[in-house]
Amino acid sequence: MSDFAEIILDGKSYKMPIVVGTEDEKAIDINNLRSESGYITLDSGYKNTGATESAITFLDGEEGILRYRGYPIEQLAEQSSFIEVAYLLIYGKLPTEEELEVFTNEIKIHTLVNEDMRKILDGFPSTAHPMGILSALISSLTAFYPESLNPNQSKDEVNLTIIRLMAKLPTIAAWSYKNSIGHPVNYPKNKLDYCSNFLHMMFAYPTEDYQIDPVVVKALNKLLILHADHEQNCSTSTVRLVGSANASLYSSVSAGISALWGPLHGGANQAVIEMLEQIKADGGDSKKFIAKAKDKDDPFRLMGFGHRVYKNFDPRATIIKKAADEVLTALGVNDPILDIAKELEEAALTDQYFVDRKLYPNVDFYSGIIYRALGIPTDMFTVMFALGRLPGWIAQWKEMREQKEPIGRPRQVYVGEKERNYIPMNQR
Ligand code: MLT
Repeated sequence: MSDFAEIILDGKSYKMPIVVGTEDEKAIDINNLRSESGYITLDSGYKNTGATESAITFLDGEEGILRYRGYPIEQLAEQSSFIEVAYLLIYGKLPTEEELEVFTNEIKIHTLVNEDMRKILDGFPSTAHPMGILSALISSLTAFYPESLNPNQSKDEVNLTIIRLMAKLPTIAAWSYKNSIGHPVNYPKNKLDYCSNFLHMMFAYPTEDYQIDPVVVKALNKLLILHADHEQNCSTSTVRLVGSANASLYSSVSAGISALWGPLHGGANQAVIEMLEQIKADGGDSKKFIAKAKDKDDPFRLMGFGHRVYKNFDPRATIIKKAADEVLTALGVNDPILDIAKELEEAALTDQYFVDRKLYPNVDFYSGIIYRALGIPTDMFTVMFALGRLPGWIAQWKEMREQKEPIGRPRQVYVGEKERNYIPMNQR
């Protein structure tokens, strides 16, 4: 294999080094392309552009491989816990028992949020989407912890900023939900584990405690593990880009939450359930909607099928599909839209139209079904995605800062008007 790529531009040869990653991924290093040739590259959506060299997550879209710090997600989903995977992503190694205990306890003592945050929360109407509240309240952490704004925090100060975010996002997320249903908030109970504490804050009432169901806790751990990181996806790239301007971790993650909210990204799991409910409300004829999805003149599109990077199957979907079946059976859930989901899944896996277009059920298709079975309300599905993705965002922001990456500032090709003179109003 050559050590460089040669580009001939206007009769002149330019040689650019080839970068090869740990898993033999290859890239052309064009860091000096513009300074040497005056040319830039154009790649809308960055489909062919590597933004960084990262040691956090490896995924292979063709082979359906996903590993966090080298560990396959299949093993982590079965044998680890979300809080242990968070440690792995953020600090780069599996913790010893003592390290995990320290990490867990540090998070527990920071789960409370400043009571003044409730004044901000109370300012939102009950119709406010929980993702909008979450993004705003996470950004507001800079007001309560202004030291987090210092880009030159010491390693210990950065770690405290990280711990506070891991600890407080679940509280803020649960409070966002309670606000949206006009119910009083629940305070964290630090005797509970991370996932149980979140479920308590989501579902406890002043009149009764939330009964922790081990099946639900196990499923939630698995779901959050599977969503914990996904290399340079839209929201993670947003976190890195905002962080590259020396913006605080809280500001960077708040921006990532906003990016994740998009229906083409994290909002897809909410869109899946809304699609299923649309089909049910129309009479539940899945075949009718499968035909609509195939009709290029029909605006209806199936949500939760196919993926930007996975060409054959989403490895997370394989694990979540199995978990969905287990949870639905264990909880004895009998939900009409799940029958519709099964019919769409069957079509996507057997109908040549979908098979040819690689429109297989992805992680969002199944996660929405599980969240619904766990009693998570639909407009909280993307908040659940954010809860899972938080350690990935933190790890990527931390890596970008430790690598001292420059501020992200893409170029463009200008296609607007050539120079022209201003026209006074009376001559237009
Ligand atoms: C994700 O997990 O972030 C989504 O699958 C989207 C992506 O990776 O592009």
